[in-house]
Amino acid sequence: MAMSGALLMLACLQIVNGMDIDIMSAPAVQNISEMFVGVAIDSGVIRDKWRTMDFNSVKMNTLAQELVPTYLRVGGADADFLVFNQTNTTGYAFDMTVEEWDQLNNFSMQSGWNFIFDFNVLLRKNGKWDPTNAMELLRYTKHKGYEAAGYELGNEPDLFSYLHDIVTPSQLVADIVTLKNVATSTSSRPYLTLGPDASNITEIDYFHQFLEAGGGQIVDKATFHHYYMSSTLVTVEKFHNVTVLESLRPQLELAMRWGKMYAPDTEIWLGETSSSYGGGALNISDRYVAGFVWMDKLCLASLIGLKGVIRQSFYGGNYGLIDVNLDPNPDYYITKLYKTLVGSPVLNITQGTDPNVRVYAHCTNTRRARGYEAGSVTVYLMNIGSEPVTVDINGGITKHLYILSPGDESGLTSQSLKLNGILLKMPTDGQLPPLNPVMHNGSIELQGYGMAFVVMEARKKECF
Ligand SMILES: *[C@@H]1O[C@H](CO)[C@@H](O)[C@H](O)[C@H]1NC(C)=O
Ligand SMILES: *[C@@H]1O[C@H](CO)[C@@H](O)[C@H](O)[C@H]1NC(C)=O
Ligand SMILES: *[C@@H]1O[C@H](CO)[C@@H](O)[C@H](O)[C@H]1NC(C)=O
Ligand SMILES: *[C@@H]1O[C@H](CO)[C@@H](O)[C@H](O)[C@H]1NC(C)=O
Ligand SMILES: *[C@@H]1O[C@H](CO)[C@@H](O)[C@H](O)[C@H]1NC(C)=O
Ligand SMILES: *[C@@H]1O[C@H](CO)[C@@H](O)[C@H](O)[C@H]1NC(C)=O
Ligand SMILES: *[C@@H]1O[C@H](CO)[C@@H](O)[C@H](O)[C@H]1NC(C)=O
Ligand SMILES: *[C@@H]1O[C@H](CO)[C@@H](O)[C@H](O)[C@H]1NC(C)=O
Ligand SMILES: *[C@@H]1O[C@H](CO)[C@@H](O)[C@H](O)[C@H]1NC(C)=O
Repeated sequence: MAMSGALLMLACLQIVNGMDIDIMSAPAVQNISEMFVGVAIDSGVIRDKWRTMDFNSVKMNTLAQELVPTYLRVGGADADFLVFNQTNTTGYAFDMTVEEWDQLNNFSMQSGWNFIFDFNVLLRKNGKWDPTNAMELLRYTKHKGYEAAGYELGNEPDLFSYLHDIVTPSQLVADIVTLKNVATSTSSRPYLTLGPDASNITEIDYFHQFLEAGGGQIVDKATFHHYYMSSTLVTVEKFHNVTVLESLRPQLELAMRWGKMYAPDTEIWLGETSSSYGGGALNISDRYVAGFVWMDKLCLASLIGLKGVIRQSFYGGNYGLIDVNLDPNPDYYITKLYKTLVGSPVLNITQGTDPNVRVYAHCTNTRRARGYEAGSVTVYLMNIGSEPVTVDINGGITKHLYILSPGDESGLTSQSLKLNGILLKMPTDGQLPPLNPVMHNGSIELQGYGMAFVVMEARKKECF
């Protein structure tokens, strides 16, 4: 049990909210792959000559390799200003040098990541995308033997009206066909095409119009982006507010509905997503409290039927999984635990009546989480309220608890994380700290603002 005696006593003295969860009756409702969670690096980091990223950093390479298997998406607003190997860029355009492209590919390969690159859709001629610069990059890529896992064309084209340079949904479909033609002629293995990377699913109809124009049959993964709000509006309270968390659900449901209508065989992905847009909120998006919006998004997306979630960002902004010193933020460890423990299929468990307790369950990822038998179940729960809660999961079954709490007295704005009461700190640059569970029988006491993964060898039929 993670709680100290004093806290446990305190919990017992209070009128504790209780909740019963039954994993055995929960139906399997979705499948996800091990690649469900990907990471992003914004093209702006290339513009800024990598900022503080250091490709020779053992620590950064360790943290990258520990997220395998994963997609790395390099894209974002600056993708539409990036030109390859051209020193004569003008205006807001910038040059990605051959050496920078080498470094990026090398980093992705060394990490064992699957690289997705977003091409500049604003290189245009006569109303169409001009693939000349992309072809130069693709020829060089083939010559070097680099292998991309996927390509995108443009970023948030629905916002281009502000730039007075409109790429209509049907034109984008045609432009992506052009991209596929040039990529196929230079690729030696299959690759994915993702798009349209619409900024927003509700207010602006771009995603819908793209699918309606046949885009869903052209791309392999239909993508849109999601942020809960602008970084300027963020407060600590909003990241553990049930209304904010639930605001995602109708957007995911809408995307799935349109997907079923126009392209039932095409997966829907959150192609770029994080807590708040505009780089993330300083001292909030990189802190403990951001774990609530991140975990809730992963769980809701998989439950509703999305097949990929690309986290903005691995590095960069206030929402990086790692910070400017290349140290892991709390969300790094949450992502690592999720990738290790959470598998497929997704189970639909009945939520309790306490809106502060959010509970999700999947079959355990027994390939990654070594030592667990097929049939195991991983429950993820979080208490977004300040009061402790008691959660009972199928009575006396032995539970492997991974209880998360803030790493220091800053609480919700702590930049560190404790697992079962132990501060997570890399022992050396080449190693993550051990992420070990504690065994427990009976119901679970979860402190206010606690999060937990719970693994049970449940011998659940759907998990074999
Ligand atoms: C998940 O995949 C398995 C194996 O392919 C399949 O039998 C099952 O129907 C799928 N489940 C869902 C909910 O799609
Ligand atoms: C980069 O551009 C120069 C001309 O400016 C050219 O000689 C060179 O071949 C280009 N490199 C690649 C990899 O395309
Ligand atoms: C840079 O110069 C090359 C060769 O003159 C030209 O093809 C290209 O369009 C120019 N690029 C930009 C971004 O102006
Ligand atoms: C690729 O990365 C490895 C490990 O970081 C490094 O040793 C090697 O020099 C890099 N190669 C290039 C061409 O950058
Ligand atoms: C969609 O974009 C518009 C315009 O930027 C913005 O006002 C609105 O809040 C966004 N909606 C969502 C759900 O993100
Ligand atoms: C959560 O946010 C909503 C508005 O977005 C607000 O009405 C509500 O009071 C907030 N809840 C809490 C518990 O602060
Ligand atoms: C953000 O946090 C850092 C380190 O905890 C602190 O030095 C800085 O003053 C904080 N900035 C703001 C605006 O809160
Ligand atoms: C999960 O179950 C609830 C009813 O308990 C139902 O409303 C919901 O549609 C189900 N979700 C999925 C993804 O099947
Ligand atoms: C849980 O119960 C099992 C079976 O009764 C027992 O073997 C085990 O020691 C108990 N574990 C703990 C941590 O109490």
